[in-house]
Amino acid sequence: MPRFTLTAAALVGLASGVLGDLETCGQAQYDPTQYVCWDNQFLCPITAGEPLSNCAGACYSKFMYSCTNNVLALLPATEAPFTLTVDNPALLIHGKPVTAAGRHWSLDGETSSYCPDQVGDACPPGDETVIVSIGGRVSMSVMVPGGQQAYLDPFWNMGYTQAHSAAIPAGSISDGFGAYEGGGFVNLNGNGWGWAACPPRASGGGGPGWNLVARNETNAEKYNDCHPINLKINSLPSGTFGAWQYT
Ligand SMILES: *[C@@H]1O[C@H](CO)[C@@H](O)[C@H](O)[C@H]1NC(C)=O
Repeated sequence: MPRFTLTAAALVGLASGVLGDLETCGQAQYDPTQYVCWDNQFLCPITAGEPLSNCAGACYSKFMYSCTNNVLALLPATEAPFTLTVDNPALLIHGKPVTAAGRHWSLDGETSSYCPDQVGDACPPGDETVIVSIGGRVSMSVMVPGGQQAYLDPFWNMGYTQAHSAAIPAGSISDGFGAYEGGGFVNLNGNGWGWAACPPRASGGGGPGWNLVARNETNAEKYNDCHPINLKINSLPSGTFGAWQYT
């Protein structure tokens, strides 16, 4: 008998260790590593490290929505330039910037830019990656005539055109982005799968650093070892150029 009791206790301990310690939310039990409980009655999932907020029983992301008097509304679109930072407090690259180099957006890399000598003092610093999104499209905030458009490449990495060229790889997607004031930069093409950060060497390309990918139903498996993130918008004064051109 004592042996049986001990074993049962050990099993219970093991089970609770595997599931995490459950907490209660009203009548429900939940795992606080996966969910957040609001007002002791509403459970919302934690996605990309963000405990979703509650608006009269609906769960929402503060990167896209606000809740006023119990009514959910999309945040206003922003047409001002911005930098982007990784948001997922569970990751080491939380708060690190999206960086442009090699016509590709990476995470926590070095921004790569160029400015002709003749432009002289009018050259922007060029060490920060500044982006602007208008009407669902997105481009680099640059001075070079013709600009540099950004797009989802066929691998659902973010790329941008070379200065003086409008060439975009076949199969790229150049609209369906949302930039929300006080919120995030969202890829609306992915059916809600969102952005992910792929650690160095994980599948997902992008070279030796962390890579940014947009996930969707078909590539989610391939990007399995990447971590869901939000991209937080840090607004800049309108008319801010990050570089003459990004390289
Ligand atoms: C998902 O992304 C992959 C690239 O990673 C792309 O080939 C595929 O067409 C996309 N799927 C959908 C449903 O858009």
